[in-house]
Amino acid sequence: MRGGEAAATGHPPASSTAAPAGPPGGTPAYDAIWRDGLLADLDPRELARTFGTPLYVYDLDTLAGRAARLRAALPDRVDVAYAVKANPSLAVIATLASAGLGADVSSEGEREAALRAWIMPRAIVVTGPGKSDRLLRRAVESGIRAIAVDSPGEVPRVEAAAVAAGERARLLFRLAQPGQTFGMPWEDALAAARLAVASDHLRPIGVHAFAVSSALDAGALVRHVQRTVDAAVPLARAAGFPLALVDVGGGLGIPYRDGEAPLDLASLGAGIGDVLTELSSRLDLSETRILVEPGRYLSGPSGAFLARVVDVKRLDGRHVAVLDGGINHLLAPALVGRRHRLRLVGSGSSQDRPPDGRQLVPVTLTGPLCTSLDVIGRLEAFPEPRPDDLVVALDTGAYGFTQSMPWFLSHPGPAEVAIAGGRAMLVRDRLDPAEVVAAQRIPRFDV
Ligand SMILES: Cc1ncc(COP(=O)(O)O)c(C=O)c1O
Repeated sequence: MRGGEAAATGHPPASSTAAPAGPPGGTPAYDAIWRDGLLADLDPRELARTFGTPLYVYDLDTLAGRAARLRAALPDRVDVAYAVKANPSLAVIATLASAGLGADVSSEGEREAALRAWIMPRAIVVTGPGKSDRLLRRAVESGIRAIAVDSPGEVPRVEAAAVAAGERARLLFRLAQPGQTFGMPWEDALAAARLAVASDHLRPIGVHAFAVSSALDAGALVRHVQRTVDAAVPLARAAGFPLALVDVGGGLGIPYRDGEAPLDLASLGAGIGDVLTELSSRLDLSETRILVEPGRYLSGPSGAFLARVVDVKRLDGRHVAVLDGGINHLLAPALVGRRHRLRLVGSGSSQDRPPDGRQLVPVTLTGPLCTSLDVIGRLEAFPEPRPDDLVVALDTGAYGFTQSMPWFLSHPGPAEVAIAGGRAMLVRDRLDPAEVVAAQRIPRFDV
């Protein structure tokens, strides 16, 4: 690592994120940031020394490689929009923009991030519940590809935004899925589509549905695509609009455990290809496109979370290591019970990096919060931790930083570092609790 880069801030320019390392002109083969005990070939201890902890690290070469392989596996009539909610870091979005992906955004902040990271408005779809009037208006004004309406009531709101913007808004109709609160029943979606067909300010173009989450089975994803197409075709015909786009959401899974088989991209591509071939046999559907919105699949394995062991103690026959970042920075273990793969990096000599010589003991890894929920791992055979060791949580490039609760207990938040071509750069400053204090005022109603 080069010392000067440690102080650099701001996201890397397109040229440094766009050029993945690896064979010249080729796609890097790496599938994940953690390789041979290193993070994108850099020593985690060196990263921790340079940037401090807690820290999120993203490998932009891995990210670019994953995007390129997904793109290559899917038929040409499938578009890919990165679900920004998975990781809204500008460095991540810009890398995916350079790989030719669009974006799926669900808030004004995400729309802003996508545009700042060079995603073209015509490659952005707006999805999700509770869209603000400001988001609708700015989305229509900027010529966004489509807005997925979540309810019949959203149609007149988008229409008002379209009138105010002086632009025609393109609409998708989100179909509700069992057990979810998003979208609407097919009959309501039809009513919403008919409203839109009747408006001079709206152009219905398709249907949106997201049913399968974290799927490692390509067949389950393909069945969802088929079901969505089967629901979209009669809806578009009954409402009387040409079906240009079927947005099937995200849900492409990643293995979180050692030995779990990854999603078979070739089967996914072939299965969606079959759905498209069948569509092409019908004259009015030969141009219909499919959109996928993966988040986790792209950024998850490309990122890792690093925290330092602050304290160790023994409790109830277990070793407890207290880290400088816990569920305030990585909430998924408490929120959804996710068991991220965890690695200990020794603080001692280079032989100690994978601490081979250490005894394997039962360990609980906690963060610095005053809640017993703050456990990021409970392992029965983990190398015995010591103060100043590092713990690396893998597959945290999606729903890590963005899904955390950084202000609980007002500890410093994690910084974010991007690595490309063997170089590391700070892409987000450490969140400073002093700024949260500075943004407040104590009321004095007596003056
Ligand atoms: C509408 C929509 N699209 C895409 C995604 C991304 O899902 P994943 O990260 O599982 O691919 C989500 C996740 O919540 C979503 O709500």
